[in-house]
Parts: sequence; C-alpha cells; structure tokens
Amino acid sequence: KIEQNLRPKLLSDYIGQAKAKENMKVFIEAAKLREEPLDHVLLYGPPGLGKTTLSNIIANEMGVNLKITSGPAIEKPGDMAAILNNLQEGDILFIDEIHRLNRQVEEVMYPAMEDFVIDIVIGKGPSARSIRLDLPRFTLVGATTRIGLLTSPLRDRFGVINKLEFYTLDELTDIVKRSACVLGIDIDEKGAVEIARRSRGTPRLANRLLKRVRDFAQVKYKGDITKEVADYALDLLDVDKSGLDKNDRKMLLAMIEKYNGGPVGLDTLAATIGEESGTVEDVYEPYLIQLGYINRTPRGRTVTSLCYKHFGIDCSNDYTNDN
Ligand code: ADE
Repeated sequence: KIEQNLRPKLLSDYIGQAKAKENMKVFIEAAKLREEPLDHVLLYGPPGLGKTTLSNIIANEMGVNLKITSGPAIEKPGDMAAILNNLQEGDILFIDEIHRLNRQVEEVMYPAMEDFVIDIVIGKGPSARSIRLDLPRFTLVGATTRIGLLTSPLRDRFGVINKLEFYTLDELTDIVKRSACVLGIDIDEKGAVEIARRSRGTPRLANRLLKRVRDFAQVKYKGDITKEVADYALDLLDVDKSGLDKNDRKMLLAMIEKYNGGPVGLDTLAATIGEESGTVEDVYEPYLIQLGYINRTPRGRTVTSLCYKHFGIDCSNDYTNDN
C-alpha cells in the first residue's frame, strides 16, 4: 500500500515530535541493552499526528511483532484474553482509541500490564473459580485522542506517556518533500511549503493533500508541483490559507454571525456543522485553538480577534473575548 510506504520505518526517518522521539530512542536502546521488553507506552494527542506510525517504528526498532487492534473492537474480556495469550515474548500490542475499552475488558488489562498474568473465571455462581494464566511479557502501546477519558488505574500502568504535538511548518514541509520523493513527485520548495501551510499541522492531511495536488498537477499542469499549482488545487479543494475546511469556516462564521463571537456551548457548535460534540472536541477544536482562533472558557467557546481578522470581519464594534 502506498500509504504504508509513506510511513517511516525507523526513528531516524521520523520527522518532528522531537521530544517523544528523543525519549523513545533512549527507552528503546535501554530495553534492548537489558534484553527486556519495552515498558508500556501511552501516546496521546489529536488524530493524524503519527501515533500508529510511531508504534510501527517502535516494533521495528525493537525487532518484534506488532499486533494492532482498537478499544471498540474488543467487546468481551475473553477476546482480550485471547489476543494477549497469542502474543509472543516482547511483542507490541497496539490499542488505538484505548479510552473506548469497556470496563470489564479494561479490568483484564490491569494484571496483564502489571504482572503479565490474566485471571480467567470458569463457571458461574458458587462453583465459579478463577485460574491464573501466565502471559508472554509484552509491551502495550495505547493511543488516544482523549487522555482525560482514560481511567486513572489504566493511565497509571503506562511507564511512558508521550504527548504528540501539531507539527511546525518546517517539519511538515520536510514531510511533504519526503513523501513526494517516495511517490516520485516533482515538487519545488514553495509548492511544498504551501501544502504544508494548509495541512493543519497534521502529516496525515499533508500526505492526502499532496496526492490530490498531484492529481491537479498531472491533469491541469505539466506534472510538477509549484506554488501556483498548489494554490490552484488547494483553493479548489476548499482548503483555505490557514488550512481551514468548509466545516471549520461554517462553525467559526456561525460563532461570529449568529452568536456574536460567543461564548457558545459545545453541543450548539457541533449542531452547526452536523457533527458529534466529541468529534468537534477531538478533531476540529485542537487546531483552531492552536491557531489562536478560538478559546475554551467555562461558559463555552469564544472566537478571538485573530479569527475575525482571518475572515476579514471588523470586530471593533463587537464585544470580543480575547484573553
Ligand atoms: N509521514 C507521516 N508522518 C511522518 C513523520 N512524522 N515523519 C516522516 N514521514 C511521515
């Protein structure tokens, strides 16, 4: 798969996330020196910043297998027990959306993570008894967009906790250039910068936009990507100069025009774009907050003067909420 090829296989090829990268490099090296499995790792942050990519790299660097699953996919304690029991010594189990594990399944994880055992209950009622099963020593890599939704007993069992941050323009530009190289696309510096600028600090989006811009470059231009091609394609794709898409703009403009800049409740905001409030919180808001376009306050969300400026709307007559 092309998508797979775009993913770096080694820590040294991974661009950005300097802090997480430096930390992981030391922990991986130390675990290998001691010939021990790596301690459990929790990765959190907005979607598309490389949580799965990083877990692939960790498995690759440790020289072990990677088994990938997700919180909502594991319905019963027995399913989790089977997955754990099938791992080999040192293997990495990646659980995406780990905040969505149900309580019974989560409880299987506690002794598994701490002592590499699971307790299986056999039978029902007074004759029920529990047998303890030894597991291979594995590494759990958990990923979540919502660390606040993790229970503390689960969170406390991770030895390493890494927060992934939005990528800088320079880092994203390097990622676009690297991906273009992998895909055999000709792109100049300014073309790469333009795609990076509009990618919401997110490599997944940068790679997606790169492929779409390539389509326009091939059909409407001579094939290589310049700033002109990137501008043309990204405008047609409705991705604006700050990387905002239709939904972002609809939400922000509703805050300005209908709610006088806020505060607006999360549910109301979500309704303006027909999304769930969890999606607004996880997917839309983090980047808008990072850009400094909106604030979270106890009474709801407010837009900033920077946001008014982005839309070329004069806010001098309005009460605005910069602080
Ligand atoms: N492709 C996607 N994410 C990447 C990253 N962080 N570094 C390099 N290439 C990537």
